[in-house]
Amino acid sequence: MTTTATMAAVKFAQENQERFVEELKALLRIPSVSTLPEHAKDVRAAAEFVAAELKRIGMEHVRLIETATKERPGGHPLVYADWLNAAPAADGRPAPTVLCYGHYDVQPAEPLDEWKSPPFEPTVRDGNIYARGAVDDKGQMWMHVKALEALFSVGEGRLPVNVRVIVEGEEEVGGEGIAMFVREHGDSLKADVALVSDTEMFAPELPTLCVGLRGMIYTEIEVRGARTDLHSGMYGGAVPNPFVALAQVIAKLKDADGRILIPGFYDKVVSPSADELKAWQALPFDEEHYRETEVGSVSLTGEAGYSVLERTWARPTLDVHGMPGGFTGAGAKTVIPAKALAKVSMRLVPDMTPAESFAKYKAYVESIVPAGVEIEVRMIHSGDPIVVSTDNAYVKAATEAMHTVFGKETVFVRGGGSIPIVGDFVRELKIPTVMMGFGLPDDNLHAPNEKFHLANFYRGIESIVLFLSGVGA
Ligand code: BES
Ligand code: MN
Ligand code: MN
Repeated sequence: MTTTATMAAVKFAQENQERFVEELKALLRIPSVSTLPEHAKDVRAAAEFVAAELKRIGMEHVRLIETATKERPGGHPLVYADWLNAAPAADGRPAPTVLCYGHYDVQPAEPLDEWKSPPFEPTVRDGNIYARGAVDDKGQMWMHVKALEALFSVGEGRLPVNVRVIVEGEEEVGGEGIAMFVREHGDSLKADVALVSDTEMFAPELPTLCVGLRGMIYTEIEVRGARTDLHSGMYGGAVPNPFVALAQVIAKLKDADGRILIPGFYDKVVSPSADELKAWQALPFDEEHYRETEVGSVSLTGEAGYSVLERTWARPTLDVHGMPGGFTGAGAKTVIPAKALAKVSMRLVPDMTPAESFAKYKAYVESIVPAGVEIEVRMIHSGDPIVVSTDNAYVKAATEAMHTVFGKETVFVRGGGSIPIVGDFVRELKIPTVMMGFGLPDDNLHAPNEKFHLANFYRGIESIVLFLSGVGA
């Protein structure tokens, strides 16, 4: 594609910004919460919405790929599309293929009363669009679709590169469906590079490539005491209380300094290189500002001897997300619950593996079970940690694209979050992955008032137009 054509595509994107936002709003109105079975129809509707648009803009072989099986009746569909007719290079080599990845599922919107405008009624305020999924990841996935539309429209139905699109509906619940598909049908996603826009920029105005993600194991601990709930006056003092037992177990998982107490848990942790640590030190990061404005707690916590960036990017963690069960209504109920549950996850860093980490955790929990209760430790989902290479032409194309749009050099960061399939792109498909995301640190991912800064939505589309043209050139 000539520079003139590329700039025409950028111009097309600029002239159609308003329409792009209206379309995104329609997608955001669909409450595609993948973890809640009652939203299964909405999840499918979101998949169909994305598929219809891919078809409309000119992608080929658009289809939903079902991932539900007997064992996984709740599996959500993948959306697939491709366009593989790009002209070969002058020397006859075939045009490269870019695999565009995103997810159309979202996290639950609760607590609803914390939202200034309802989570599934997208609202624009102060240059931001507010809705569940605005930035994670419907808005960012839409940037891919709109960049492709811009390129098709100025290219008279042709793209400067071969493109495959794969959009999943289970990222927020572990991504098992896409993982199975990649392992069994990896060939049908054959590409030279994967483009993922599901990460953040380090700071406003600062173009960022994410080069590492933490992995995770998400688990449940179930504690059972008496056969049934008991009157706490009649029985209290003589019978086990599962919640107290669970609290005792949880208290032994981590010490007061944030060090995880599971024997051998840190054995496989690889420290970032000296160069990487040096680069992180040069990033514009003010710990006090982070505490005050982003976190809002009286102090920060975590392992001594590590910076906040190391703690969130390069160290494993253990967190408790909730302890369902017992009595949690308004008022008081004097009951000793028969069972208690805790949702506990651990973030993993290279070279930890989910299987080994889970085995160590399970064995340790089973070794500290208090008297009178039985414990079951279950894995809900898991994903591998990953660090991607930066030494390739695609990373260069991405930094050049963002330089044109932002007028600044790109910073390389890691993300503390997880995108389970990225590990499989690298290990199963054996392709480099470019994680070029346009979220901001205060976009409230997974929290009330999630937003996407519209200027970044537009700059993201332009960056992707330039990236795809650059890869094709
Ligand atoms: N987009 C996030 C992951 C992310 C956020 C990466 C910020 C880098 C920076 C993704 O949608 C996400 O939330 N993933 C889950 C995965 C989990 C449910 C397996 C996560 O990290 O909790
Ligand atoms: Mn995401
Ligand atoms: Mn997410």
